[in-house]
Order: sequence, then C-alpha cells, then structure tokens
Amino acid sequence: MKIAIFGGTGDLGRGLAINFAAAGHEIVVGSRSQERAEQAADGLREALPSGTFTPLENVPAAEAGDLAVVSIPHEGIDATIPPMADALAGKVVVSVVNALRFGKSGSIAEQDIKHGSCGHWIQELAPEAKVVVAYNNLPAAGLQEQHHLDADVLVCGKSKAAREQVLELTSSLPGTRALDAGPLANALIIEGMTAIIINLNKRYGGEASLSISGLENAPERP
Ligand SMILES: NC(=O)c1ccc[n+]([C@@H]2O[C@H](COP(=O)([O-])OP(=O)(O)OC[C@H]3O[C@@H](n4cnc5c(N)ncnc54)[C@H](OP(=O)(O)O)[C@@H]3O)[C@@H](O)[C@H]2O)c1
Repeated sequence: MKIAIFGGTGDLGRGLAINFAAAGHEIVVGSRSQERAEQAADGLREALPSGTFTPLENVPAAEAGDLAVVSIPHEGIDATIPPMADALAGKVVVSVVNALRFGKSGSIAEQDIKHGSCGHWIQELAPEAKVVVAYNNLPAAGLQEQHHLDADVLVCGKSKAAREQVLELTSSLPGTRALDAGPLANALIIEGMTAIIINLNKRYGGEASLSISGLENAPERP
C-alpha cells in the first residue's frame, strides 16, 4: 500500500515511515516544503536502503497515497487539511495528532479543542475522509530505532472498516498490538493520554506506552 505521511519530516512521521516501509509499504514523505521532504526521504533511505520513500509536498502526497497519516502539530491542522480535502475523500486518514500544553507542573491535554478532538477537527475539514485516530501514544524515538515497543495501540474512528484497516496496518510496528477502541467520540481521551505518558516519563524516566490487560479474546501482544 502507498502511505502518505503529512509531516513525514518530523520525529513521529519518520518513525512510522521506517517501520511501514520495512513491512513493504511504499511511503510518500509529505512536507510543506519539497526540499525538506527530499532531505527526510534521503535520511530514511540511508536508514533503510530497501525502503521506497517518495518526497512530495503535502497536497500531492495526499493525492498519491492510498492511505494517509496526519503527523503534524495541531496548530497546523487548519492550514494543512482544507487544500487536500478532495484528495482525501474516501481514503482512510490516520490522525496521530495530540493537542498538549506544557506548563510548570507538567504536560496537560487541551480540553477545549475545535470540534472536540484533533481527530474530529480533521474529520470536519475533510468530511469525505475516513478519519481514524491511532498511534497517538507511541514514542517517536523507539519507532525510529525500530524497537520492539511492547505497546498497545488504541484505534478509534467512525468507520469500522477503516478501523479494521488500521488494525491490520499496525502489525507493521514491531511489538505492538492494535485494539479497536470504538467510535471517534473517544478520540480526545486517546489523544489526551499522551500528556500523562509524558509526565510519567519525566517522573520515572524511560519511554512509557500503553498496555491493556485482562482482554480474553484480543490477540496476544507480539
Ligand atoms: N514525538 C512523539 O513522540 C509523538 C508521539 C505520539 C504522537 N505525536 C504527535 O504527532 C504529531 C507530530 O509529532 P512530531 O513530534 O513528529 O512533531 P514535529 O516534529 O514537531 O512536527 C512534524 C512535522 O510537522 C510539520 N509542521 C510543523 N509545524 C507545522 C504547521 N504549523 N503546519 C503544518 N505542518 C507543520 C513539519 O514538517 P514540514 O516543516 O516539513 O512541513 C514537521 O517536521 C504531533 O501532533 C504530536 O502530538 C508525537
């Protein structure tokens, strides 16, 4: 599958790109700048010579991808999504975007986000896309190093078929198990958990991620 990653030049975007590419997917590295996309694609090729990385600006990347990943800061949603809304129609669009604030006492999830969550916000701006929220709680550094993450990935979105596609795609990420967490209405909770993970990392050190116990019929975490 051809996967377009908007903000594919950033920490999380590159982390997802290298793992998806290692699993055989073609990656379109999206950026606001062709030059930055090319630099990021060069770096990814160096890290994974067998991978296919095509650098493009975000809108042509949206046109080229079968599935898209939005991996930009939330402040960029309003400018980034509308010009690509037509290109995203009918496609699964994964949002990894979290809206967090960093205060003296730690990281805090923004509660007052347009439309209720970053996932809803993107869905409003690209109404024909099938927005799925996933990967919000994974560590970019561990992904870039292709670590076995030993993490659960909570997946939510309006379309069950789109969630299923993302559950399947997640088998590309070493040591992760994707779990169907239900409708997009839960997006803010998944996004906001990242603030807690950041505070835990600061307090106790390390690189935390989520793991859910007690599920009898879910697949084993690899
Ligand atoms: N870092 C993590 O560990 C992590 C983990 C889970 C989820 N997330 C979420 O994933 C998203 C990306 O995180 P990141 O750490 O990779 O972020 P980042 O490195 O700060 O930004 C990613 C890319 O977004 C583009 N960008 C920056 N500002 C933008 C704007 N105003 N409008 C449009 N594009 C902009 C930049 O690409 P160009 O300049 O090339 O366009 C940048 O390389 C965030 O929403 C974050 O909350 C991050």
